[in-house]
Amino acid sequence: MLRIEGLNAHYGLGHVLQGIDLEVAKGHIGALLGRNGVGKSTTLKTVMGLVKASGGTVTLDGQVITGREPHLVARAGIAYVPEGRLIFPDLTVVENIRVAERRPAIDWPLDRLFGLFPSLAERRANKGSQLSGGEQQMLAIARALASDPKVMLLDEPSQGLAPLVVRELASVIRQLCRAGVTMLLVEQNMNLAEAVAHRLHVMVKGRIVYAASPEQFRAEANEIRSRYLTV
Ligand SMILES: Nc1ncnc2c1ncn2[C@@H]1O[C@H](COP(=O)(O)OP(=O)(O)OP(=O)(O)O)[C@@H](O)[C@H]1O
Ligand SMILES: [Mg+2]
Repeated sequence: MLRIEGLNAHYGLGHVLQGIDLEVAKGHIGALLGRNGVGKSTTLKTVMGLVKASGGTVTLDGQVITGREPHLVARAGIAYVPEGRLIFPDLTVVENIRVAERRPAIDWPLDRLFGLFPSLAERRANKGSQLSGGEQQMLAIARALASDPKVMLLDEPSQGLAPLVVRELASVIRQLCRAGVTMLLVEQNMNLAEAVAHRLHVMVKGRIVYAASPEQFRAEANEIRSRYLTV
């Protein structure tokens, strides 16, 4: 399980994370919601070691990983799918996946990835730049899986995708969950978050101000939306 306790982070004098507490149980999906600029991406980057924590701890299956370099956080079992996907435009689908493997994948070899993403299988020789937005997002997820992670951090995977593709993405996220991958999902798309997550967390200015099950969230959605989420 992923446990974040009292996590703090600064950009210079800006105190961006002000004591984040959040847990994602093994095999569950946690969602992190919030308006622009509240610190959602910074939370993922700080878990990953890309931003240095100025207080608090992150533990993965009981092991403290705070303060480790990003490649050591990755080696401990956390994979990160950044906002904007950042796939390599000049590499093929297969090459984009291969660069992420530290050794031949055990849990997620190419044939299993291509079973999960049939459209990528068809386009395996295409370059990243030739893929649609949805295919690029699937490729970014496939690349993250190639490192056989225990936990996957997803930053706004639905961004810029058509509703039909968002539905495909929800189905992929559910399949990964059934396969035992624990996920922390940052989303602006409340419907997607509500549809897949076991627990939803809302952030305001560097703090978690609300956490609930999807059922409770749905019951209180109107109030939560107007209070914390819509502009
Ligand atoms: N590299 C940086 N240097 C300085 N300030 C930053 C940096 N990155 C982000 N910030 C600031 O930190 C705050 C939190 O940013 P963050 O990207 O974590 O927000 P977010 O919740 O992911 O927002 P969005 O919904 O726009 O993606 C914002 O005020 C942002 O302007
Ligand atoms: Mg962000």
